[in-house]
Amino acid sequence: MRWKKISVTIELKHSDCLEYLRALDDESVDLVIADPPYFEIIKDAWDNQWKSEAEYLKWCDDWTKECFRVLKPNKCFYVWGTTKQDTFLRYKLDVLNNISDAHYQNWIIWAYDWGGRTKKKFPRKHEDILMYSKGKEFPFHGDRVRIPYKMKKNVRVDAVNNPLGKIPTDVWTKNNHTTSKEYAGWHSTQKPIALLERIILAHTEPGDVVLDCFSGAGSSMIASHRTDRSFKGCEFESEYVEKSWERLEKLSHKSNKGEKND
Ligand SMILES: C[S@@+](CC[C@H](N)C(=O)[O-])C[C@H]1O[C@@H](n2cnc3c(N)ncnc32)[C@H](O)[C@@H]1O
Repeated sequence: MRWKKISVTIELKHSDCLEYLRALDDESVDLVIADPPYFEIIKDAWDNQWKSEAEYLKWCDDWTKECFRVLKPNKCFYVWGTTKQDTFLRYKLDVLNNISDAHYQNWIIWAYDWGGRTKKKFPRKHEDILMYSKGKEFPFHGDRVRIPYKMKKNVRVDAVNNPLGKIPTDVWTKNNHTTSKEYAGWHSTQKPIALLERIILAHTEPGDVVLDCFSGAGSSMIASHRTDRSFKGCEFESEYVEKSWERLEKLSHKSNKGEKND
């Protein structure tokens, strides 16, 4: 058997997203994962930078267009958000749907079961992830990300479950215990590395370049490293950048413990 060593580069800059994106070449990345501020959902200063929703959406229009400029044709753009307020819906309708080569593909629900919850109505325990492709066609390697079936036996006559498991639906369940020591307790909205690995494995090849211009606790960077992809990203809080590098040291390989939080 022959092994080919994949060389990857990991770049995380302390920078504003627009400054960072404007310096990147056209069509130079293979996947964009964006997890922007939500706009006045959480208390952190980074979520409260805009005077109005209109100003926030104008800013979103600027960075989203830059992301599509640097994305290669027929590759994927993922964006995380929440429908706790309607801002994310307006972002979809007014920004994403008006980018001519952006094709809507998936609305994924990430459901979790941690954190405080109201007793006055059904508690909201999910976030939303939209996927658009640049052009109609895009790579999808469902076989790489199969998971066990919930129903062990297929109830349809003459049908059998695939022994390798099923391709995940658009409802993803993964807990992310922010207080657990494996997680970055210093960042309020970090996303599960296992789900980012799923996105990366499904749409890219080893050595490809993943971009995240709102790196936060460095979750996409770590997922890229663990899957042998190169990473380009930025984050404008210098403290988060420094701590992300430390987090990468601890979680850089699949053999590292942590992230098993279902
Ligand atoms: C929702 S969090 C991202 C969390 C990240 N996905 C993770 O898993 O850790 C959004 C991040 O965007 C950063 N941010 C806000 N405005 C920015 C800007 N103009 N340029 C770059 N980063 C920015 C915030 O500091 C925050 O860490």
